Amino acid sequence: MAPETKRETVIVLDFGGQYKQLIARRVRECHVYCEIHPHTMPLSEILAMKPMGIILTGGPNSVYAADSPTYGKELFEAGIPVLGICYGSQLMAYRLGGEVKTAPVSEYGHTDVTIDAKDSALFSDVETAADGTTRCWMSHTDYIASVPEGFRITAHTPACPVAAMENAEKKLYAVQFHPEVMHTVEGTKMLRHFVLDVCGCSGDWQMKSFAEETIAALREKIGSDRVLLGLSGGVDSTVTAVLLSRAIGKQLTCVFVDHGLLRKNEGDEVEAVFGPNGQFGNLNFIRVNAGEEYFAMLKGVEEPEKKRKLIGEKFVEIFGNEARKLAGTGGFRYMAQGTIYPDVVESGMGAAGAVIKSHHNVGGLPHDLVVELGFDEKPIEPLRSLFKDEVRKVGLELGIPEKLVFRQPFPGPGLGIRVVGEVTPEKVHIVQEADAIYREELEKAGIDMGKGQFFAALSNMRSVGVMGDHRTYDYAVVLRGVITSDFMTAEAAEIPWSVLQTCMNRIINEVRGVNRVLYDLSSKPPGTIELE
Ligand code: XMP
Repeated sequence: MAPETKRETVIVLDFGGQYKQLIARRVRECHVYCEIHPHTMPLSEILAMKPMGIILTGGPNSVYAADSPTYGKELFEAGIPVLGICYGSQLMAYRLGGEVKTAPVSEYGHTDVTIDAKDSALFSDVETAADGTTRCWMSHTDYIASVPEGFRITAHTPACPVAAMENAEKKLYAVQFHPEVMHTVEGTKMLRHFVLDVCGCSGDWQMKSFAEETIAALREKIGSDRVLLGLSGGVDSTVTAVLLSRAIGKQLTCVFVDHGLLRKNEGDEVEAVFGPNGQFGNLNFIRVNAGEEYFAMLKGVEEPEKKRKLIGEKFVEIFGNEARKLAGTGGFRYMAQGTIYPDVVESGMGAAGAVIKSHHNVGGLPHDLVVELGFDEKPIEPLRSLFKDEVRKVGLELGIPEKLVFRQPFPGPGLGIRVVGEVTPEKVHIVQEADAIYREELEKAGIDMGKGQFFAALSNMRSVGVMGDHRTYDYAVVLRGVITSDFMTAEAAEIPWSVLQTCMNRIINEVRGVNRVLYDLSSKPPGTIELE
């Protein structure tokens, strides 16, 4: 649920570019609210949103291909400022009567772009080298060969006669390079000029106002009805819970399903914070201890996807049962979920890619159950428009402790996918203990875990060791540490050898059933962050 407000909005129209989320982030970093929409969005809907500006993304196609994503000329004649990036710039040129050609070779990577028009609103205080160039990131084969009538060329490269063009009077701007990526040194400045100077946004969108507006909008929408939320203790559901509790107080009920696959002490920690004696003591917190049920279900199951599916289904079953009981007490109208923006973009607009791992998000119920329980079909999703770091900022604004706000991501299926092969209480216990030691030592050593994800897992390997005078035949713990900003790609973290040695010593000495400790060096790709 995005609160209905009159905030200034810039729309990113997606033509299949891989950097669409980055564009949205950069705009929001200028304190201007921004949403991504598919290029198929009709103009009437765009106009209804009263956007301050539109940014067209890049994309892999050629404007001349019959099946390429496109938009009609009317987009450029609606009186709204437009910035076309890469493919978006070619589309602008093509639609308005310019000429787009295919180059014999692509221009790719770092490129020094000569700024021809320092008086351009986009480039006004862009710093250039002595030769008038600024370093940009290019990735294209087609290029604009001649600009439409009324446009002027504002930048070029040796290979690209129109690296940027504009019709300032009509507020139409285009750049062949990608200002949204960090390799374009002055890119953020250019985007800021577009949204603030060209579109006229005031740049006053703040997380504080987001929290206030959202609480008011939730209060108005929900009225005197009751809301049910699946709380996992992760940052998304935590912030959702606090926003809702601020808005509707006792009308909120939170169900926390403890599947027995959480990190050491985590179930109790969640209860301590959200239970009746916790900081947010009015959440009607219900803890369901379902560990035994999960372990019974997982007995003998080894295949990762099967485990994920079973764990997901069991969650729905248990949560559904609780919801059924609560629905019987009357007054429940809404389910709430901690869905965040990347979830929305990936599920609503993403390409139909191969299923690498089936993720399940805690909090969702299947549609038929929602109908059966008489809940409103549309769940309440107050964070639907936010990126993770923005969710964290809202969390801090709301006074949620940093420990919870900066909690590392933890997968819905929990340690179930950090134990390779069959999941047993004994193996989960080993991982919990090893993981606690590992994270404790990393913290002591001052390793910044916020830069990625750090955890212990259990390989399914048993091997021979020697302890004292005895032969052992025990498990190998895998320590994993990755640095990542988007969780799509990741590099193994360079943890000092001495820290790893301390972890190894402590884990082997303190955790029964372990005689080896391995550090996982794989990056993603080809590895994934979790082991299953
Ligand atoms: P992978 O292992 O796919 O993980 O590289 C990428 C990120 O996603 C998290 N992850 C999950 N999160 N439900 C979740 O809510 C899941 O089923 C799930 N599987 C992986 C993982 O922890 C990492 O942050």
